[in-house]
Amino acid sequence: MIPPGTTDRGRRAAAVAATALVETGMLLGLGTGSTVRFVLERLAERIRGEGLRVSGVPTSLATEERARALGIPLAELSPGREPDLAIDGADEVEHAALSLIKGLGGALVREKIVAYGARRFVVVADESKLVEKLGTRAPVPVEVVPFAHAATARRLERLGGRAAMRLQPDGKPLVTDNGNLIYDLYGLGPIVDPAALEQDIARIPGVVECGLFNGLAACVFIGSEDGTARLFEASR
Ligand code: A5P
Repeated sequence: MIPPGTTDRGRRAAAVAATALVETGMLLGLGTGSTVRFVLERLAERIRGEGLRVSGVPTSLATEERARALGIPLAELSPGREPDLAIDGADEVEHAALSLIKGLGGALVREKIVAYGARRFVVVADESKLVEKLGTRAPVPVEVVPFAHAATARRLERLGGRAAMRLQPDGKPLVTDNGNLIYDLYGLGPIVDPAALEQDIARIPGVVECGLFNGLAACVFIGSEDGTARLFEASR
């Protein structure tokens, strides 16, 4: 899903800036989405051009396929071996606390697993993703198990929003890489306390994970149309 205002130049600028942080020997978390595609391309260039030696844990089947095609060595997460650096996109970035909404690409569960374990989680986005408060433009995606999903959706709505099952273009339910469904929660923004909302959502049985990423991003590169990238760092 490419939101209005999104530009290739901005996304590429952010991706190039973040990929400059990659060093030989690193285990990387490879996010998902159109901005990460630029990260993968730049990484492949550095592998070919500089002999950079890295491996990456993909957060979706789409990223796995793309990384394979570009010749980026792949790896799995294993106990005691977490990514040195994970790079991923976002659907909204709250610039003060660097809280995020992610998951419009449907890969939020694997993305959160990888980001949570990474020594450094770096976000790449263009200016269209910066917001004062989360939930003002994007819904909050929630991955739920198929069993009793409609009941889970009603319980999610008690938090105040409207839950819409994510559909594919052909009208069939979108099934995630994990075999689950996604409900997008509309009408929750502006979200004043994203950490509290994340906890409230997580308490509902049937919820696998939600797309609120709080306290995870170490920094965010925001790319602009002029080809530059601004760095926002977490104050934690
Ligand atoms: C994938 O599930 C998402 O979390 C993406 O990271 C997010 O949608 C950003 O994607 P774009 O870079 O395509 O905007």
